Amino acid sequence: LDNGLMKTPPMGWLAWERYRCNVDCENDPKNCISENLFIDMADRLYEDGWKELGYNYVNIDDCWTLRERDQQGRLQADPKRFPGGIKRLADYMHNRGLKLGIYGDMGTYTCMGYPGTPVEKIQVDALTFAEWEVDMLKYDGCYSNDTDQALGYPLMAKALNNTGRPIGYSCSWPAYQGGLPPKVNYTQLGEICNLWRNYGDIQDSWSSVLMIIDWVFTNQDVLTPAAGPGKWNDPDMLIIGDFGLSLDQSRSQMALWAIMAAPLFMSTDLRTISGEARTILQNKMIISIDQDVLGIQGRRILKEKSNIEVYWRPLSNNASALVFFSRRTDMPYRYKTSLSKLNYTTGTYKVHDVFTDKTDVLMDSTVFEVAVNPTGVVMWYLSAPAKPQSLHFLRGGKRH
Ligand code: DGJ
Repeated sequence: LDNGLMKTPPMGWLAWERYRCNVDCENDPKNCISENLFIDMADRLYEDGWKELGYNYVNIDDCWTLRERDQQGRLQADPKRFPGGIKRLADYMHNRGLKLGIYGDMGTYTCMGYPGTPVEKIQVDALTFAEWEVDMLKYDGCYSNDTDQALGYPLMAKALNNTGRPIGYSCSWPAYQGGLPPKVNYTQLGEICNLWRNYGDIQDSWSSVLMIIDWVFTNQDVLTPAAGPGKWNDPDMLIIGDFGLSLDQSRSQMALWAIMAAPLFMSTDLRTISGEARTILQNKMIISIDQDVLGIQGRRILKEKSNIEVYWRPLSNNASALVFFSRRTDMPYRYKTSLSKLNYTTGTYKVHDVFTDKTDVLMDSTVFEVAVNPTGVVMWYLSAPAKPQSLHFLRGGKRH
């Protein structure tokens, strides 16, 4: 969507995967969907270095409203849980250089049974969101049918645009249509939405992450060309820092989300996150790969019989990223290959391992070995072929 927003994939925090529809503020005040939760997360983003790295959206998901609209037919935040109202929450974010995202649903109800925004409510809700100075809308699709959706998603894009306020627009439409053509029209989605969910919800487990990876890369010929500046495929939230992933699996999610040029929305408790998880989520080089200005989504380029897979993403300045991913379940696998085998052209490349920070210089023909842990990755940032002089350096350098 050409609204000047999200030229690189949006980053931030989204409540759903970790906090779901916990509205029990009486018994679980720290973890219920309330302004306090979003304020807490905003404080963490602001004070713990997240914002500087690009994590600037604080996004509300389902279960923020009362069960009924107000007398004028407008959505209203539950006053018990959001006593300051959404406008004040948006101000809180803006005062800290953060942005506020909100959630609506194209059908009669949200997935959790709160009031939806069906076609006849689109105008009023878009205006309300703009009045509250909200910066992003996730528009879910429960309780709507194909016809409603075909009407509603483009109509909401128009309504948001007509408010005059730049509001990032996340569409769940394709996820409700199976994610693939001919039912899904990615050209149209790129014109009306900044990002879109293609596939089912992520859960707090490795099998869920694997399912998403499998689906996306199986369908990469359709999905890759759909992405670009201002329009992104959304494989759903990062669950790093939660309960379901090992350290290696957390690195795998981060690495492959960056290959996918995915929006990076964390859904974890930033108040108690472990140092290990934080290190992965705050890895500058992976973030810069995800945020590359060309916005070209990467691909799986190789599936080996050994159950090692290789993923590749082209980056600006003739750079690229490679991920070696292991689906094995035995032990670290020593995968041997060369850049020429991975379709790199003749030349010399500087290689930077994004997790260990080790660097190396490789010629396209150099045979090298990477040790990839079960369910883990090795990820490299490769910079442009070095100038010919460096060949001279290479001769004295480390060989493989
Ligand atoms: C379905 C969406 O895909 C999820 O991300 C979340 O927004 C839930 N609905 C909320 O009910």
